[in-house]
Amino acid sequence: MRVSGTDCIAHAAQLLKSGELVAFPTETVYGLGADASNESAIKKLYEVKGRPSNHPVIVHVLHHEQLTDWAADVPETAQLLAKAFMPGPLTLVLRKAPHVSALLTGGQDTIAVRMPAHPVARAVLYAFRGGIAAPSANRYGNISPTTVKAVREEFGDAIYVVPGGQSDVGLESTIIDVTSEKPRVLRPGMISLAQIEAVIGTPLIGGETQNAPRVPGAKRSHYAPKKPLKLVADATMAMESAVIARRAQPVEFRGDSWTVLPAKASGYARELYRALRDADNSSAPSIALELPPHGPEWNAVHDRLQRAATPREEDE
Ligand code: TXA
Ligand code: MG
Repeated sequence: MRVSGTDCIAHAAQLLKSGELVAFPTETVYGLGADASNESAIKKLYEVKGRPSNHPVIVHVLHHEQLTDWAADVPETAQLLAKAFMPGPLTLVLRKAPHVSALLTGGQDTIAVRMPAHPVARAVLYAFRGGIAAPSANRYGNISPTTVKAVREEFGDAIYVVPGGQSDVGLESTIIDVTSEKPRVLRPGMISLAQIEAVIGTPLIGGETQNAPRVPGAKRSHYAPKKPLKLVADATMAMESAVIARRAQPVEFRGDSWTVLPAKASGYARELYRALRDADNSSAPSIALELPPHGPEWNAVHDRLQRAATPREEDE
């Protein structure tokens, strides 16, 4: 018997309350959720993901008033950004409230908070009535999942997944640290730095370069397929490769497969992780990706591509 949508959500909330993990959709990528107030659930989260314990997680909340459940204060810049972009694909790093577990913050005195816009994520948060700690629902180092199928590839049937279609944004949230005088970008995302600067009225630290500084504790290769990924200008001659490109397959192409992604940055971002997963699951020995153009709306895409193309053994 199929359970109805409402039952899925009630079931997910029940599992979370009893300290279990639940995967759920957000508009960026699927998250692997745990009760953010339950230390043994958070420990389970790190264990299942295979994630180092000094690598902090994001707490997901439903309403603006819940920011102060987790943050010691919400400075004016944070309030402006919250008003403009929450709910949505933005994460704010704030000073943590005293009670917040060091397990969530990786021992730092800051906490990352996000308010997803996806209706299923919101329904789960509403039913659960608390903060949900949720990293992307993949094993450490793998590509983030944007579909139920991708979550199942990561965890099989071991984790209950609330279904919610394909994530619409497709790349992880933009992360802004608002704990010091000058806000800093920690991870570029599909909310562009220009959009953020327009709201706060000052330039972001880290916003002037193509690739933002790394999130503390982050590895360079962090969103990587298992097969070697080459970033190329022209993949026509890529012989033993699954190719990902924005143009149609040239007649001369003799490689394994040729996948066309949308031409615009938003559509490209939405489809990228799924295309990388499909290429990784194919019989081709390697993946070749024709680099998309540069420009502000492509920053997050290029950031993830550079990471994905860094071989895992070169991790620092
Ligand atoms: O779009 C997203 O943000 C997705 C969905 C599920 O919400 N989540 C996600 O979580 O990407 P995760 O754990 O895969 O990435 C969270 C990033 C990590 O790079 C982590 O280092 C950073 O957020 N982070 C978390 N807490 C932080 C903190 N207190 N200070 C600095 N960075 C932090
Ligand atoms: Mg992740």
